[in-house]
Amino acid sequence: NNYCVIMGGGIGSRFWPFSRKSLPKQFLDFFGTGRSLLQQTYDRFSKIIPAENIFIVTNDLYSSLVKEQLPQLSQDQILLEPTRRNTAPCIAWASYHIQAINPNANIIVAPSDHLILKEGEFLEAIEKGLKFAASSNNLLTLGIKPNRPETGYGYIQVDEQKDGDFYKVKTFTEKPELELAKVFLESGEFYWNSGLFIWNVNSILKAFNELLPELVAKLSVGDNIYATENEKAFIDENFPACPNISIDFGIMEKADNVYVLMGDFGWSDLGTWGSLYDLSSKDENNNVSLKCETLMYNCKNNIVVLPEGKLAVLQNMEDYLIAESDNVLLICKKDEEHAIRKFVNDAQIKM
Ligand code: GDD
Ligand code: MG
Repeated sequence: NNYCVIMGGGIGSRFWPFSRKSLPKQFLDFFGTGRSLLQQTYDRFSKIIPAENIFIVTNDLYSSLVKEQLPQLSQDQILLEPTRRNTAPCIAWASYHIQAINPNANIIVAPSDHLILKEGEFLEAIEKGLKFAASSNNLLTLGIKPNRPETGYGYIQVDEQKDGDFYKVKTFTEKPELELAKVFLESGEFYWNSGLFIWNVNSILKAFNELLPELVAKLSVGDNIYATENEKAFIDENFPACPNISIDFGIMEKADNVYVLMGDFGWSDLGTWGSLYDLSSKDENNNVSLKCETLMYNCKNNIVVLPEGKLAVLQNMEDYLIAESDNVLLICKKDEEHAIRKFVNDAQIKM
């Protein structure tokens, strides 16, 4: 009864110009392992989930990329969204689809662009979570101990109330402002939401019914068309009218039956250049060079990512990000990377 839904339809704009609309970061192989982040995600889950129960939800745009990277998937394991509506509609569709196949399904919902260093611990946590989902009508998320006031994550405050290893969530705050993130971090009561969710299909659809009725109104149908040949036409017609909202804002912040299982499995959301910098090996002055060669004079704390074979020569630079990909060269302060969303916007034609 175990299923996995991999969400692979984001564009990863904070990783521009590496991550492009035509080739978002989940399709890239960051560390030269020979497998993209999406392929690594698939490989991990295929160790514990039957191959035919793994689904990828992505945008129409990436249909051929997914087929190329995961040729073992059959056509009906790839759910193609006609428009980008963020993660709530993505998860709702996948849930209806899986419910039509198996009304007792337990589902892991996973991002496609994370790095997991300790696979054994990771799979153990997932299996624990699947057991929880099979015997409980609560929603589960995996939590991570935070180490910095990151504003790109959801923050989970836990209750004393406990069900084995599973803590009841008291509050869930998606992407707080920096000041609030600092307060959360210092209090020691908060965990990061890893973005990995586990539940049974009926619990999540019940939550959608209660908390996002406007989304349910677009996607629920009396006569089941899910997992039939009429599904894609129905989605193409109705999906674009779904509200554009993430599962975090739409469900996790509002539901009162959320639990969290803490995980320590070398998790990293390769969400930003800063996270890539943190994970990469550094020279004696804490500079990171990826792919290219560099000569650095009086430089520290920089990250340089240029096309293979390029030589970069830097002098008197500190805390810079220098990244080149195709037709874009980006040079900015490494710790002001939230500005990248603005750059992308202004340079839209080159996204
Ligand atoms: N199919 C589909 N359609 N997938 C999508 C869409 C969409 O419209 N939008 C995003 N995704 C995919 C992304 O490719 C990624 O794998 C995953 O869904 C999560 O989306 P992000 O856009 O990366 O979310 P986030 O990083 O800002 O925030 C989420 O993850 C954090 C941890 O990494 C939230 O769940 C936070 O609470 C969490 O802390
Ligand atoms: Mg992310």
